[in-house]
Amino acid sequence: MLSENMTKALNEQISFEIYSSYIYLQMAAWFDNKSLSGFANWMKVQAQEELAHSMIFYNYVNERGMMVEFDAIPKPKTEYVKPVDVFKSALAHEHIVTERINYLMGLAIEEKDYATKSRLDWFIDEQVEEESSAHEIIDKLELIGDHTQSLFMFDKEMAARIFNTPAPLVGK
Ligand code: FEO
Repeated sequence: MLSENMTKALNEQISFEIYSSYIYLQMAAWFDNKSLSGFANWMKVQAQEELAHSMIFYNYVNERGMMVEFDAIPKPKTEYVKPVDVFKSALAHEHIVTERINYLMGLAIEEKDYATKSRLDWFIDEQVEEESSAHEIIDKLELIGDHTQSLFMFDKEMAARIFNTPAPLVGK
């Protein structure tokens, strides 16, 4: 059984992951509107990943015999100037996610809730990857600068991203 405090914190994270999905889907719409369908694809896959993250927490709260409860989802930002700004915003968002996961981990350790700690280990590793991939894309976009042909080539590369079910959801 989870403590009330931990249940509340995990439930907030479920909604935050759905909010993350919403943000990335809005970013996909921005790219689609600019006819950069490869970047839009990357963002759609990211939105799917965030929804999967919410389901990992959803399943966990449920498995521990507690009730899942959602919060309202805020409206995501819609206006950006350049592709690199979108990814800078994505990286800033991932920094917030990392802080939240670290907070949850701290809470699990404080409460000696080792099952929750074990579940959160996956997210700690995942956040390293999330930040690193956003960082890499920002670096590439900064190198590309205003070179349109290179941007279109990178867009093609981004079209190759596919969604893979995260390990904690396989078979669930
Ligand atoms: Fe669910 Fe991008 O962290």
